[in-house]
Amino acid sequence: MGKTVTIAVQRRDRPDASDRWEEFEIPRESGLNITGCLQRIAAHPVTVEGTKTTPVSYDACCLEEVCGACTMVINGRVRQACSALVDELTEHSSGKITLEPMSKFPVVRDLVVNRQRMFDSLTRVRAWVPVDGYFDRGPGPQESQEAQEADYPLSRCMSCGCCLEACPQFTLTNDFLGAAAISQAVLFNSHPVATFESGKRNEALVAPGGIADCGNAQMCVKVCPKDIPLTDSIARAGRMATVHTIKNWLGR
Ligand code: SF4
Ligand code: SF4
Ligand code: FES
Repeated sequence: MGKTVTIAVQRRDRPDASDRWEEFEIPRESGLNITGCLQRIAAHPVTVEGTKTTPVSYDACCLEEVCGACTMVINGRVRQACSALVDELTEHSSGKITLEPMSKFPVVRDLVVNRQRMFDSLTRVRAWVPVDGYFDRGPGPQESQEAQEADYPLSRCMSCGCCLEACPQFTLTNDFLGAAAISQAVLFNSHPVATFESGKRNEALVAPGGIADCGNAQMCVKVCPKDIPLTDSIARAGRMATVHTIKNWLGR
């Protein structure tokens, strides 16, 4: 491995501007991650050709793969910049790392995308526990140990968008909910405190852009950094949608 690493960044100045590539050479350091590379570029925004440029825009918050804000496409694979280590990324390559914004969300600038649609999808499936007050109503309903163990992995979703970036059915122009929101609908439908609103969530699952739009290509589960069993969630959502539809036919 050389003493430096080359970072090639796909850049865009404004949402409606065209893309261009710029390359930067960064000194290697032990434990250096992609967010660290972007910080070093910001401190010294000069390309490999010696041209002064603007710092690269990117999102970050927790810096420990919890918030999902730094999600981008690194060497062709969607993942978080804060947990992507330079040494691991260049172990079997020429030493150049490419950074691109996610392609399934509108680009705001450089590596920053607008992920609002993902949060709108969570609103569509009512991914929350509704409360009508904060007064003490005593202990809530019990949840079995088995149910807790089945559903806890679903609660690890950090709304990063990796599953949507990888999904062939989720495009910039359609209204597919995507795996993350479907999985959250399953989580809240299964929770004893939130299940009473499952009818409304199931309405969103059977509506246009819902579960029927999933092509079952299972790309989502392969890229989820939190190892959420999305294929299982999608199957559970399909069963919930079917029961909901039958109940509607029967008028219940
Ligand atoms: S199973 Fe395939 S089509 Fe369905 S959400 Fe996952 S990636 Fe998209
Ligand atoms: S399901 Fe996984 S890949 Fe999709 S948004 Fe949640 S954490 Fe990210
Ligand atoms: S900064 Fe939060 S996941 Fe990377």
